[in-house]
Amino acid sequence: MSDAHSGAIESSLQEQRVFPPPPEFARTALVKSTEEYRQLYKRSIDDPGAFWGEMAGGLHWFKKWDTVLDWKPPYAKWFVGGKLNVSYNCLDLQIERGRGDKAAILWEGEPESGMPGSGGSVHRISFRQLKDQVCRLANGLKELGVKKGDRVTIYMPMVAEAAVAMLACARIGAAHSVIFGGFSSQAIADRVEDAQSDIIITADGGFRRGSIVPLKANVDEALKKTDRVKKIIVLERIGSAPGKDFKIDWVEGRDVWWHELVRNQSTDCPAEPMDAEDTLFVLYTSGSTGKPKGIQHTTGGYLLGVNITTRYVFDLKEDDVYWCTADIGWITGHSYVLYGPLSNGATTLMYEGAPNFPDFSRFWAMIERHRVSVFYTAPTAIRAFMRAGREFVDRHDLRSLRLLGTVGEPINPEAWMWYREVIGGGRCPIVDTWWQTETGMILITPLPGATPTKPGTATLPFFGVDAAIVDRTGKEMGPNQGGLLVIRKPWPAMLRGIFNDPDRYVKQYWTDVPGVYFTGDGARRDADGYFWIMGRVDDVINVSGHRLGTMEIESALVAHEAVAEAAVVGIPHEMKGQGIACFVTLEHGRKPTEALKKELITWVGKQIGSLAKPDQIRFTEALPKTRSGKIMRRLLKELATHGEVRGDTTTLEDFNVIAKLKEQDEG
Ligand code: WT7
Repeated sequence: MSDAHSGAIESSLQEQRVFPPPPEFARTALVKSTEEYRQLYKRSIDDPGAFWGEMAGGLHWFKKWDTVLDWKPPYAKWFVGGKLNVSYNCLDLQIERGRGDKAAILWEGEPESGMPGSGGSVHRISFRQLKDQVCRLANGLKELGVKKGDRVTIYMPMVAEAAVAMLACARIGAAHSVIFGGFSSQAIADRVEDAQSDIIITADGGFRRGSIVPLKANVDEALKKTDRVKKIIVLERIGSAPGKDFKIDWVEGRDVWWHELVRNQSTDCPAEPMDAEDTLFVLYTSGSTGKPKGIQHTTGGYLLGVNITTRYVFDLKEDDVYWCTADIGWITGHSYVLYGPLSNGATTLMYEGAPNFPDFSRFWAMIERHRVSVFYTAPTAIRAFMRAGREFVDRHDLRSLRLLGTVGEPINPEAWMWYREVIGGGRCPIVDTWWQTETGMILITPLPGATPTKPGTATLPFFGVDAAIVDRTGKEMGPNQGGLLVIRKPWPAMLRGIFNDPDRYVKQYWTDVPGVYFTGDGARRDADGYFWIMGRVDDVINVSGHRLGTMEIESALVAHEAVAEAAVVGIPHEMKGQGIACFVTLEHGRKPTEALKKELITWVGKQIGSLAKPDQIRFTEALPKTRSGKIMRRLLKELATHGEVRGDTTTLEDFNVIAKLKEQDEG
C-alpha cells in the first residue's frame, strides 16, 4: 500500500475518533453541554439583537447604544449610537474591577541571560503599570500632533511596548496599522502610503533566532520610497541590551526616542469616547488580487467579538496564565494576544523570539517557567516540534497546561494527536479555531466544556455565526459534500471595509456567492454538522499560517530585471502547510542558471519579507495560457503538486508548454 493511501485510511479512522469534553470543563466552563450550546446557538441566530445586546453589557460604555444591529446587506453597523474606548476596557475597567496589581503582560525576551534555567529577561507589567505606560505614550503621541482619526503605523518586535503602542493609539482614537516585523522596507512603504499614515512607531531592532532584526534601518530604507512619514518614534531595544553596541542612523527633527518622548508625560490621559463604529485599526492582509488590503475593524463590535470568544473558547479563569504565540503583527496577535485577553482581565504572555531558540525546548521551558495554563499556537509550529522530537518536551513540567488551541491552517490529525498526547498529556481539550483577518474573531470552534472534538476539524460555529457550505449559486451542500464556506449573517467583529478601496469590499467578499460573505475557503460538513476546512480555493497561499497572494509574489518576481513573466502557485508542504512554487520566463538573453534561481529567491524575500521566499523556481520558455491570454494557474498547480496535469486542458492555447515543463520535471 502506498504511503498516501495508508495516510488517507489513518485519517479517516481518526476522523471517527471523538474526544468528549473533560469532566472538569463540563462542570466549570461557561457552556457545559452540547445541549446548552445548541440552545444558546439557536437563540443567537434567531434573535442576534437580544443575544449580542446582552453580551455587550459586560463591556464598559460611556454611552449605551441605541440599536444593536443595523444590517443593510452587505453593510452592518453594530451598537449604533454607543460610545466606548477599547483601552479603557482593557485597562481602567480592569483596575476598577480590582485587578490593578495583577499581571496584565508577562514578557520574555529572546536572548538568554546566561543564568542557568533563567531563559532571558522577563518583565511583569501590572494592569496599573500598563495603564500608566499607555497614558504616557498617548500623551506623547498627542504632543507630536496625532489626532483622533489619524493612522499610526507600528513596526515593532514582540516587546511589551508594541502592546503599549497599540493601546495608546486606541486611547486617543487614532487607528493603528501594525506591520509584521518580518516584512520588508517595500512592504512598509506600500502600507504607509495606502494607510496615509505620517507617523511610525518602531524600535532600533529586535531579536530573532539569535540575530538582530534591523527594524529602524528597514524603516529608514522604506522612507526613501515615500515622503509621507513625518515622525518616527524609536524604542531602544537593542542598544540597551548588555554587551551590545548597535548603531542606527538618526535623522534630527524626524526621529524621536520613545524614552525621551514619554519621560515628562503625565500618566493621566482620559480615554477618548469613541463611536462604536469608529475604526480601531487597519491591518493589511493578502488577497487574491493586487497588493495587500487594509482590513478595517471597528471599536464596539470588534471588541465585543474578541472579548466574548476569548472568554468562551479559552475558558479564561481569574488565575490563568494565557499564552498565544502569534506575533502582534497578525490578526491573531491583535485579537488574542492583546484585546481579547486584556479586556477579560487576563494575564497575557508575550515572547519576543523564535520557538527554536536556543533550541526546540524554548516554548516548553517557558510554559514551565510562567506556569502557562492556556496555550494557543499554529499547526506549523506543532509539526516543527513533532519533527524535532519529544525529548525537548519531556525535559519540562507542563502540568500547568489545561487547554490547548490551534489556528491558522488546517491541522492534520497526526499533529492534533501529538499535540493532545505529548503537550497536553492527554488531559487538555484542544480548540481548533477557524477564522480570518477579516472576521476579526473566532467563528468556528469547539467550546471546551460542550463540544466533543475530533482531530482535524474546527467543529461548530460560534454563537451568532451562520456558517454554511454552498455551491457557487449559494445552494447548500449535503453532508460531506465539499463546497464553499460562507457566512450568511453579520457578526460583531466582521470587517467593515477595505481602507481606501470601498468598492473592493463588496467585490471581494459579497459577490462570488450572491448575498453571503464568501470566506475564500473550501470545506465540508460531516454528518454531525462539523466543519472540515480544506483550505483556500482562491489565489491566496497559506504558508506556515501566513497569508500571501500569488499576485504579490508574481509582481515581486517581474520587478527583477531578468524576469519577463511569472506565475506563482501554492503546493503542499509537509512542514509549512503550503509552499510557494514559481514558474518564470526570462527576458531575452538571460540564462536560466542555478545562481539566478538563488538570486530570485533572495530577491522576493527582500521585496516582501522572508516568509515569501519561494520554495521552487522553475524556468520555462512560456507559461500555459488560455486563448484569451490568462495564465492557467490550475494546470501549473497540478504540475507542481503531482508532476502531471490531470485536469481539463481544452482551453489551453499551447500544449507544448506543459509538455516541456513536464520533461524538465522528469529530467
Ligand atoms: C485563513 C485566514 C485567523 C487567524 C490566522 C490566519 C486559514 C485559519 C484555520 C483553521 C483551517 C484555517 C483559512 C482562512 N485558517 N484558521 N483552524 N483551520 N484553516 O488568518 O491570515 O487571515 O488567514 O487561514 O484558510 O481563510 P489569515
